[in-house]
Amino acid sequence: MSTGAAGPSGLGAPPADDPDGSPAPRAGVPARPAPAGHLADLRRLAIATLDANWEHDHTVPSRTLYPHQWSWDSAFIAIGLAHVRPDRAWRELRTLFAAQWADGRVPHIVFNPTLRVGSYFPGPEFWGSAGAEGAPAAATSGIVQPPVHAQAAWLVHRRAPSEASAQALRWLYPRLVAQQRYLTGRRDVGGAGLAAIVHPWESGLDNSPAWDAPMAAVPADAAVMRAYRRHDTAHADAAHRPTDLDYARYVAIVASYRDSRYTDQALAGWHPFLVECPLFNAALGAAEQALARIAAVVGADPGPHRDRAARITEAVVRRLYDPVTGTFHPRDLRTDRLVPARTVLGLMPLILPDLPGRQVRAVLTEACSARFGLAPRMPRPLPTHDRSAPDFEPLRYWRGPSWMNTNWLLWRGLRAHHRPDLAAGLRQSMLALVATGGCHEYFHPDTAAGLGSAAFSWTASLLLDTLAEG
Ligand code: DGY
Repeated sequence: MSTGAAGPSGLGAPPADDPDGSPAPRAGVPARPAPAGHLADLRRLAIATLDANWEHDHTVPSRTLYPHQWSWDSAFIAIGLAHVRPDRAWRELRTLFAAQWADGRVPHIVFNPTLRVGSYFPGPEFWGSAGAEGAPAAATSGIVQPPVHAQAAWLVHRRAPSEASAQALRWLYPRLVAQQRYLTGRRDVGGAGLAAIVHPWESGLDNSPAWDAPMAAVPADAAVMRAYRRHDTAHADAAHRPTDLDYARYVAIVASYRDSRYTDQALAGWHPFLVECPLFNAALGAAEQALARIAAVVGADPGPHRDRAARITEAVVRRLYDPVTGTFHPRDLRTDRLVPARTVLGLMPLILPDLPGRQVRAVLTEACSARFGLAPRMPRPLPTHDRSAPDFEPLRYWRGPSWMNTNWLLWRGLRAHHRPDLAAGLRQSMLALVATGGCHEYFHPDTAAGLGSAAFSWTASLLLDTLAEG
């Protein structure tokens, strides 16, 4: 990526998503809050980025790195579009849910059929969804991503309620319910009411240190990757991406699921990666809270959603909270143990409005510790991994860099739990991050130098929401 993409000055067009590699981190760049005049510039940059990434009925996360439609990206994108292009916000969600499988799963990628073969790895030919029972006509992947869509639909409606938005909710509601039913039914591998993820990509935090232990048990050889052409490293610095060994394992896990035609039957008996993730399951619970609100608009009964939300929160606390570390951890269902890594995933249950006080206090203590640095005045948003951990890597994807979406989720959680002081500090740091680095995909957690894609849609859309709700 070009360093010239950083910062909102000289706005009008979004930075080109230049495939030349990310800038070197600029050590010593002081953190500065965005001056008031720059807020309008930031807003313009965000809108231009989203407009440039709009692709006839959906938004690509990035023209270069991610040229198809991604599931949780679309939810975050809709939240931002609601502020500026509400029709597109609904279109985004409708296009995604039009590719929902008969069993209720919402695929993590919907492939754009007009792109040439080989325009992404792994592409539709690798996923082979056409052969699977209940797959839609469109080519998709067979895995899912965190279910943040009900919350997105609710926020889009709440932004500008109208007959058209109520109509959109009526169309989406049964589909969102089916998504929840799939996750709490077929994916309840642990039998405790939580959803298991079957691939690190389902967490959205692909190469988080949280997955190192469960991934180590997946047999793979990095040399396997010689048979494939990775797409990400053709567009971004390989030192900022998952390793070839990670990818060999990603491919092996997809192959296991695909070769069983994406069935979820008796997963514990044969699938190599099965984990209960705190972010994924917090999103699952928050989705039931959002569905309760949506139900009231569409004339359905909110009661069962509230009951399910309470059960999910209770299970998240019982299964994933460790009183010894005072934070949440993923549970590896292959060993029935909590994964020891302390990552940003452990803070995400704060998005549950009914999280008990004890866990709220524990998460705030963890977030405000030197590991993550949350404070009423803070130079930078939270990194994705514990800064004091020996495997903290400030440049490598989800192993340290700061991302807008995890910070945005935390910001929402802080507001839900009545911490306006911390929410204000975090918001300011998020604005300063994009003011310094531009609408990049992720950022060096100290310098805010932009990494990955230089024109990343959810950075733009969550920036719009952060700007609007200050
Ligand atoms: C994928 O290929 O979907 C990965 O999540 C990209 O990060």
